[in-house]
Amino acid sequence: MQIFLDSANYTEIEKWLEQGIVDGLTTNPSIMFKDGVYDVEQGARRLCTLFGKRPVSVEVTTNIREEMVQQARTFAQWAQNIVVKIPVINDQGESCLGVINALNREGILVNTTAILSFNQAILAAKAGATYVSIFAGRVVDEGNDPTVIIRNVRQWLDAWDYTAKIIVGSVRTVMDVQAAALAGAHIITIPPPFLAKMVDHKYTRETVRQFNQDADKAMAQIAEVHAKSSTAGR
Ligand code: E4P
Repeated sequence: MQIFLDSANYTEIEKWLEQGIVDGLTTNPSIMFKDGVYDVEQGARRLCTLFGKRPVSVEVTTNIREEMVQQARTFAQWAQNIVVKIPVINDQGESCLGVINALNREGILVNTTAILSFNQAILAAKAGATYVSIFAGRVVDEGNDPTVIIRNVRQWLDAWDYTAKIIVGSVRTVMDVQAAALAGAHIITIPPPFLAKMVDHKYTRETVRQFNQDADKAMAQIAEVHAKSSTAGR
């Protein structure tokens, strides 16, 4: 399973890249805005450089399907590792599957975003999406269980040999990460604050503290023995 960062915060991104656990990045216009990245091209180019060959998802910012295709073509020229995020439908409920299909045929990698149902995921995969992004937290907002959708989509992709990968996003708690991992997500995209919570444990801290204290005591013992033997030798 891969871990992506769901962020546009350069400081946090550099911090977590250095830990060796990050396989890619997802952004969206709200994340870019929240993290102060107002110039999308400049920000995306910088993020793509940071990630090297690893995929960086950048989302189109229009409701018009022809403009989505144009934006996607422009984004794809910014860097080799750009993946274009296309919503499964626009805000009028019009299907964007044709956009996904056209871009796939041009060789542009697509991350189909804002997926909230099994049906949307299978249609996105059939249209040629490289990634299908299931928004776990938003599924929960509507009173549904994202693990059921993740498990069903994974079973369906495997049964029919689709190469599309499931990205689970909209992570709101560390428990969402565990649930998505066990349900069969190929990738979970995680906001940096949750990674900090995932790695920490107060009893681990206490355990390490105990070991360090005992190591200090052992060093003190050695120093005491040396001091006694050098006094005895005089
Ligand atoms: C994932 O690709 C999305 O950027 C993100 O996880 C959306 O989550 P939200 O529900 O917090 O907006």
